[in-house]
Amino acid sequence: MLGNFTYCNPTKLYFGADALQNLNLELPRYGSRVVLIYGGGSIKKNGIYDAVMELLRANGKEVAEISGVMPNPTLAKLYEGIEIARAHQADLLLAVGGGSVCDYAKAVSVSVHCQEDPWQKYYLRFEEPDCETLPVGCVLTMVGTGSEMNAGAVITNTETHQKIGHVFADEKIMPRFAILNPNYTMTLPHRQMVAGIYDIFNHICEQYFSGTDDNTSDYISEGLMRSLLHDSRIANRDPHNYEARSNIMWTATWALNTLVSRGKTTDWMVHMIGQAVGAYTNATHGMTLAAVSLPYYRHILPYGLEKFKRFAVEVWKIDPAGKTDEAVAREGLAAMESWMRELGLAMNIRELGADEGMLEGIADATLLLDGGYKKLDRAEVLAILKESLG
Ligand code: NZQ
Ligand code: ZN
Repeated sequence: MLGNFTYCNPTKLYFGADALQNLNLELPRYGSRVVLIYGGGSIKKNGIYDAVMELLRANGKEVAEISGVMPNPTLAKLYEGIEIARAHQADLLLAVGGGSVCDYAKAVSVSVHCQEDPWQKYYLRFEEPDCETLPVGCVLTMVGTGSEMNAGAVITNTETHQKIGHVFADEKIMPRFAILNPNYTMTLPHRQMVAGIYDIFNHICEQYFSGTDDNTSDYISEGLMRSLLHDSRIANRDPHNYEARSNIMWTATWALNTLVSRGKTTDWMVHMIGQAVGAYTNATHGMTLAAVSLPYYRHILPYGLEKFKRFAVEVWKIDPAGKTDEAVAREGLAAMESWMRELGLAMNIRELGADEGMLEGIADATLLLDGGYKKLDRAEVLAILKESLG
């Protein structure tokens, strides 16, 4: 560990089949006015809405609702939610859903008392809140983003074709508490489950494929990836396997709760390209990452050869004996590709709705970061997108 860093994660997590009851411990800590935030209705079908409402009522809360938060929440929806939270004079924002709902709640939290336009302030100028923010609690129903224990909030501006994430610097923007019951994820469609699994895997890769120093974070990352590979294969065959689903849920949290990025640089270019694809196609987040990953990793492999070799040996158990470093590294990516195909992930952006006519715009919408093994230029992004089109 060569870098200087601070580590603080104040989110209190309640995990397991009985986790929801802990709302009885958390709700009394906040005022009586709660805004319940949820998505398109899955929580009404699977009973989570009723269970949460019962606990809110039992704790004497006055509840207003923001419903219909869509996957990849939009700026227009954010403006709507800010007004609801203001009108209700909310003391607590309770998000019940996946990453979209949790991210959205954080975006409302920093905007309710903000005098400026949140898009301009937080997403274009990347400023931090200088107003009071509202506490957020989260009941997680979809696994992947890590939003339950981080300060990220991704919002899509459909007018300008921009999908931008702001990871707030102040840990008070992280949910104050999060309820993680693996059973709540059992009603997820298979496609969402595997998209979430790939999102987790890629979060780890984004933090792993950077730097050359010997770093504790990289060893933790390898353990998380091995656990995820093992359990994803079980869950893919047997989605109702509680043990596998609970391990996946816990791995997702650790993959992006700031721990494995401490003391090192990080890459995040798969997310930058994937988010730009998402801004044009509105495709499922994890699928956009899957569809661009292999062209990206094969492109940067020569610049980070040592790490790609280590990835092949430590994560994919490739035997390096008698092979060149490059052959070992490429075998690792081939093993990753066959795992991705086994899960049924999107392997190109065409199947997500992208076409040739969008590529220039997607390349323009891609933020170019320099923490990885090779800083891409726009032409390289375009080449990766062409390759990803399949
Ligand atoms: O809206 P409902 O009806 O609830 O349906 C949702 C939605 O259609 C459904 N779903 C969720 N839980 C379910 C369920 N269906 C049945 N049973 C359940 N238990 O799943 C669909 C997808 O939900 P969503 O919340 O959109 O998925 P996810 O958790 O992948 O979140 C994606 C968003 O998070 C952002 C993404 O960009 C995207 O906007 N990210 C946030 C990050 C962060 N905070 O750090 C990092 C990530 O890289 C990511 O960018
Ligand atoms: Zn992600």
